[in-house]
Amino acid sequence: MLTSTIQPRQFRDVMGHLPTGVVVVAGREVHSGSPAGLVVGTFQSLSLDPPLVSFSVALTSTSWPKIRPAGRFSASVLAAGQDGVCQALSGKREDKFTAVDWFDSPDGNPRISGAHAWIDGEVEHELEGGDHTIVVARVRHLEAGDGEPLVFHRGRLGQIRS
Ligand SMILES: Cc1cc2nc3c(=O)[nH]c(=O)nc-3n(C[C@H](O)[C@H](O)[C@H](O)COP(=O)(O)O)c2cc1C
Repeated sequence: MLTSTIQPRQFRDVMGHLPTGVVVVAGREVHSGSPAGLVVGTFQSLSLDPPLVSFSVALTSTSWPKIRPAGRFSASVLAAGQDGVCQALSGKREDKFTAVDWFDSPDGNPRISGAHAWIDGEVEHELEGGDHTIVVARVRHLEAGDGEPLVFHRGRLGQIRS
């Protein structure tokens, strides 16, 4: 549904000038307990009181429907140098988590080892956002790691230069 003259390629090119963090959103399938997750660049803090975060998931995501029924997830803010983790978890493989090191969060969600920060969230609601769903979640736990963040800018992974 194109209601304007904005072409998808131009949209991606221009919006790609906005640098983002690289965050793995992960949870467990309710019945099997298997880890499931995907990479998002749309993770952000939304509200301080109550403490809320948000991110957007494409309607074509195969991992979010596996995470959603439990209503909770972890978000691992990837650290500089975790390009391989980003590649592994932004693919469509079934067994993504065999390729990365992870451990359980206080809520039992998969957290990525060596990440720059971790958040555990509980889904409050989802809002319609075009070809994405906007997930609004309450923060249950959060913890900062070390080092520098991984950054996505103009289609490339990198890090902050100081
Ligand atoms: C840097 C980066 C940022 C991304 N941001 C998002 C995002 O915010 N939302 C989204 O749905 N997909 C995003 N993706 C794409 C998903 O990670 C990718 O489509 C993944 O294959 C989805 O897997 P799934 O089908 O297992 O859910 C991003 C990918 C990369 C590399």
